[in-house]
Amino acid sequence: MFVIDDAIFVAKSWRMHLNSTGSITRFSPLRLKAFVPALAFAAVMGLGHIGFAQEAHLPVVASHSADTTHHGDGPWWKHAVIYEIYPRSFQDSNGDGIGDLNGIAHRLDYLQGLGINAIWLSPIYPSPQVDFGYDISDYENVDPQYGTLADFDKLLAEAKAHHIRIIMDMVMNHTSDKHEWFIESESSRTNPKRDWYIWRDGKGIGADGKPIPPNNWVSLFGGSAWQYDPKTKQFYYHEFYKQQPDLNWRNPEVEKAMFGAVRFWLDRGVAGFRLDAIPNLFEDPKLRDEPYTGGTDAYGDKKVSDIYTNNLPEVHDVMRRLRALVNEYPGGRVLIGETYLPNVKELDKWYGGASHNELQLPMDMQVGFINKMDASLFRERINQAETEIDGNQPLFVFDNHDNPRSWDRYGDGVHDEAIARVIAAMLFTSRDTALMYYGEEIGMVTTTPARKQDVRDPIGIRGWPKEKGRDGERTPMQWSDTKDAGFSTAATTWLPVAPDYPTVNVKTEQAEPASLLNWHEHLIAMRRNDPALRNGKQIMLDKNNPSVLSYVREGVGGSPAVVVALNFTAKTQTITLNPGAAGIRGTNIKTLLTDAPSLEQTKSLHDIVLPPFASWIGSLK
Ligand code: NOJ
Ligand code: CA
Repeated sequence: MFVIDDAIFVAKSWRMHLNSTGSITRFSPLRLKAFVPALAFAAVMGLGHIGFAQEAHLPVVASHSADTTHHGDGPWWKHAVIYEIYPRSFQDSNGDGIGDLNGIAHRLDYLQGLGINAIWLSPIYPSPQVDFGYDISDYENVDPQYGTLADFDKLLAEAKAHHIRIIMDMVMNHTSDKHEWFIESESSRTNPKRDWYIWRDGKGIGADGKPIPPNNWVSLFGGSAWQYDPKTKQFYYHEFYKQQPDLNWRNPEVEKAMFGAVRFWLDRGVAGFRLDAIPNLFEDPKLRDEPYTGGTDAYGDKKVSDIYTNNLPEVHDVMRRLRALVNEYPGGRVLIGETYLPNVKELDKWYGGASHNELQLPMDMQVGFINKMDASLFRERINQAETEIDGNQPLFVFDNHDNPRSWDRYGDGVHDEAIARVIAAMLFTSRDTALMYYGEEIGMVTTTPARKQDVRDPIGIRGWPKEKGRDGERTPMQWSDTKDAGFSTAATTWLPVAPDYPTVNVKTEQAEPASLLNWHEHLIAMRRNDPALRNGKQIMLDKNNPSVLSYVREGVGGSPAVVVALNFTAKTQTITLNPGAAGIRGTNIKTLLTDAPSLEQTKSLHDIVLPPFASWIGSLK
């Protein structure tokens, strides 16, 4: 697992853990009668009308185009906010309790109003759904649960009309065991597709009469990574469930077939791919045992390192060829990687370093999964992304469908909403591409099943009670305070709606000017429209302060600089910032956005008094 406190990347589990298991109290949002900062923001940005909930619901900013271009902009994805949708849980359109493509299409106005530029769609391909879509049985179709290819094309076209691109999830490490490739592969040792997967002889028969696997490799989802096939008397390798056999990427036919699937979707017009488990493509051909690291994991297996099954250098050749393929297409198609890596040096390799010829956006998990409000650590990691990745573009992510929600990972149970605002401010004002997960914008919490019999995620069934699975972060989107939170009309939904939906939902928060949802909308609109936030260098200020994270985004083409100060503590903090020392001049300070009424009139960078977990963003000219 990725141990968050000391940030050591220990292999064989990439799932982050909650720093607190206590129940979560939600505090009602701060009410500001006149949301002065937003007005100030409107004036500075020249946006014209900012709609407040009492006059108009959404969009907050009267009109915008997600494709606005500015001086020094570069490709669209550099400024993008990418929004992950877990299709089962976003919007059900046909009353079966499972979200679907037509449901997503129905919510495009909302997404445009929020200001996102692209949707990353978790897998929608035909699948036995053992791992809820990450076990694909046909790469060139849509699972009937989610709709049809025609529904997909319609969604793509409607999203485009809303200035929203679609990024597909692409699972290249493994297929479903029900994919026709694997069905052929397992049919006999001489089948032409036998070598498409990783079949090996075992080490004979054990004292218990069972075949002994080829080595000690363990599955990330528990147990040996080798599954015995009695018919052909060999084992196949699976990094994840046994229903997810790993493909053999040393066989060029595999690459050819998978690149064919990639073209299928690029030809249809998708904007790119999020590459699932991509560092896992290759394994040691000598099948060397992995070193034991001590102790046992949640499934009771002895913990091992993953030096022979993860992040092998061969993967970079494939990434360069994949990038060349994607580059053939017009319109800035993008490759995003699910890259849990131990440090920034490893991350840089996934861009192709200074050659910039692999992924445009490998995910930086070093920042978003620090999992504690540690200003110094955030300063260090954000700065590394600014200065140590050969001028490539950082992609920060705090939430996804595999980890407890950031609300719970960072919250202290008392200031959770203010902390969520700090996280959002950091995500949207840093010089990064921003990735967010559905529900993050309204403060959805992790709702882990209380009883084993209610668990749907197989890792939770297998690992209970130490590993309760990922259902908690996959509960249905909360749209309103009506039945099923507006997600569905079904008697039961595939996962239950979280009990806080009567207060935590889109409709309620749209009507509340100072809600977390409106906070997100303001931040995203600022990020889209402000030249400094689009393209300005990010320079850390007050660098030895352990309690407050402060930085400046340099002005561009004569635009004002933007200064950000975020209190990471439950105590009032007084700071003095000196951007002049970093070469950023100016005397005129204006608040752009804050959640602290006492900071609305800030006119100087001397002795700014930040209340607990307050966020302040101002312009400097
Ligand atoms: C990473 C995905 O995000 C996760 O949900 C999935 O279970 C594994 N890869 C296997 O595909
Ligand atoms: Ca449905």
